Amino acid sequence: NEIYLQGLGGTFPPCSTDAVKLEESAREILEPGPFWYVAGSAGSGATARANREAFDRWRLVPRMLTGATERDLSTTVLGTPVPAPVLLAPVGVQSIVHEGAEPAAARAAASVGLPYVMSTASSTSIEDVAEASGAGPRWFQLYWPTDNDVCASILARAKAAGFTTLVVTLDTWTLAWRPNDLDHAYLPFIKGEGLGVPLSDPVFRGLLEQTPELDPPTAILRWISMITGTDSTWDRLPFLREHWDGPIVLKGIQHSDDARRAVDAGMDGIVVSNHGGRQVDGAVASLDVLPEIVAAVGGRLEVLFDSGIRTGADIVKALALGAKAVLVGRPWVYGLAHAGEEGVRHVLRSLLADLDLTMGLSGHRTLSDLTPASLRHS
Ligand code: FNR
Repeated sequence: NEIYLQGLGGTFPPCSTDAVKLEESAREILEPGPFWYVAGSAGSGATARANREAFDRWRLVPRMLTGATERDLSTTVLGTPVPAPVLLAPVGVQSIVHEGAEPAAARAAASVGLPYVMSTASSTSIEDVAEASGAGPRWFQLYWPTDNDVCASILARAKAAGFTTLVVTLDTWTLAWRPNDLDHAYLPFIKGEGLGVPLSDPVFRGLLEQTPELDPPTAILRWISMITGTDSTWDRLPFLREHWDGPIVLKGIQHSDDARRAVDAGMDGIVVSNHGGRQVDGAVASLDVLPEIVAAVGGRLEVLFDSGIRTGADIVKALALGAKAVLVGRPWVYGLAHAGEEGVRHVLRSLLADLDLTMGLSGHRTLSDLTPASLRHS
């Protein structure tokens, strides 16, 4: 209604309300390197396509006269109260798409009450993102450093800055084969000169300052090796538990045995995710493994979901298949590219409105009304 009414007064949305069109117009405003870094995926793009196709195979079966004219989508995700079970997926180096970068996205998230999940690879420091997020809910995503001291230092800073939940990304201990980035010889971390590179981590900055003879590309490659835990195995998880007293979530789970291992390791949650198809080309669609993973954990931890969410109906489907909440990646990054904080807010509010309408029109009043019976596989 707000959009229709503003249209009468000659004011139109800052960017499209449709995720496909958002991507198309982002292509027009961004340089090829940054655009393809965001839009691209691993290898042939088979996993990214599979993520979308999986949603198409599930259909909602709307019910009538259920009293769903008033909805309540609020819930709690790992102890964080939310107006709807949607989070901003961690996305690094946002300064490549807009100068407002992470603080703009964090402010937009806070203004609609959705949790902002800050990436370790952010172009803004932990403390500055926290300040922008203000009273908004915020979680911290860890790229797990090989060095325990570096890891403990990052965790301590995140905790001190008010990040409540730790999301440990397991699927990106090295970057995948990404032809779009290779063709443009574009790695966003290697942008700009000297300390202008879009990475804010003080350990990295200290490294650059202490070794000025180190040219930025070499320093950045060293930073990447510092923050990616190439030698991590399940037996390293207790270290994280010792250094983080809030909920811990493992991101990048795609196999039910790994989900069970997460339960055994005492984790609080997992994100069923294939990183938006950006890591393993030819991997199974994230939605296709969700039901078996939900069954495997049997309610012993919270199952979150991402990879391919573009519409309200997509969210409804993931929730009906057992996800407690979803994370959304690329769409709001395009909103950021178009109009900074306002663009992110527009994309988030559009998605929430679409979710709310789809819930109501399909006859679901609350989240607990959603079950696999709400869907048909076709
Ligand atoms: C990501 N993603 C990601 N994940 C993570 O754990 N840490 C990170 O720094 C990043 N960075 C990042 C950058 C960009 C440009 C994209 C598009 C994605 C993955 C992200 O959290 C999420 O898993 C996917 O984006 C979900 O898929 P959709 O919603 O983009 O299809």
